[in-house]
Amino acid sequence: MPRVTVHRRAYFNAAHRLYRKDWSDEKNIEVFGKCSNPNYHGHNYELIVSLTGEIDVETGFVYDLGKLRNLIKKEIETPFDHKNFNIEVEEFKNTNPTAENIAVVIYNKLREKIPNHLDLAVKLYETPRNFVTYAGK
Ligand code: NI
Repeated sequence: MPRVTVHRRAYFNAAHRLYRKDWSDEKNIEVFGKCSNPNYHGHNYELIVSLTGEIDVETGFVYDLGKLRNLIKKEIETPFDHKNFNIEVEEFKNTNPTAENIAVVIYNKLREKIPNHLDLAVKLYETPRNFVTYAGK
């Protein structure tokens, strides 16, 4: 059967601050710019989750997009939406919540729940112009 990629788009809003405790405020501002504002700031994140695999002969699906919607809601949107990454999300208590690191966390959370025969890739937009992709490894 042909291999096809299915995609699901999702959104969440969250706050963060990029900084290192072991750096001075000046160095944090120099490296992280406005994203190092000590009072935090928000982004409207846009997430695209992509699954690649063979079309199932019985259903005609690669993966049920309703199931994918529910999975993204449970694993990503509910725990992240309207949260402060630095303070409220366990994975970022000691990790800088950059788009890169958030994409890896999202990938790892979803990878556990997606059947092994499907390839997974995530694309995370922090702004309409700044986005990262991660497909494992
Ligand atoms: Ni930022």
